[in-house]
Amino acid sequence: MKNLVVLVSGSGSNLLRILEAIDCEEISNAKVTLVIADRACGALQHADDYEIPHSIIKRGKEFSQELENAIPKNTDLIVLAGFLSILSPEFCEHFQGKIINIHPALLPKFGGKGMWGMHVHQAVIAAKEKESGATVHYVTPEVDEGQIIMQGVVKLSAHETAESLADKVHQIEYRIFPDAIEKLTKK
Ligand code: GRF
Repeated sequence: MKNLVVLVSGSGSNLLRILEAIDCEEISNAKVTLVIADRACGALQHADDYEIPHSIIKRGKEFSQELENAIPKNTDLIVLAGFLSILSPEFCEHFQGKIINIHPALLPKFGGKGMWGMHVHQAVIAAKEKESGATVHYVTPEVDEGQIIMQGVVKLSAHETAESLADKVHQIEYRIFPDAIEKLTKK
């Protein structure tokens, strides 16, 4: 059984999907041992509902080091599910190949610093893209540039708004994130 630690900052709908996927064995060989947030957020309520240990580590000078200290030694995969802090190069190197993130666009397009949340969807609309989607990728010190593990595509409609696109992308995230975790953790 693989041990997952999930890092969150937001509503935690992806965390909830992961927990549901574990419950129904879509994710067959992994469990969430700990949820860590960098702020008070809705995601912690999901952890609480599922009786998963959770804590808050606020951003500060030693943030990545505190995070590293908090992650149990037996952790197989660190899952960034809407985590808005940038991890230090030392943290990324320490857990090399063990950190994954979900990004709400088709990387390598629309990634990098400043490309988060609605900024991403607004940029996609402004660029008149015909499609967008979500990308699960490994985390390296270069923001959003790690190796791609899985992508899911959505088509933009003629009257797409950033809000409607965000909804569509969330739906595809709920499919590919559990699939990617299953791929990386199955026996
Ligand atoms: C998702 O859109 C994800 O791609 C991005 O942050 C959002 C998190 O949403 N990294 P939620 O907190 O899982 O609802």
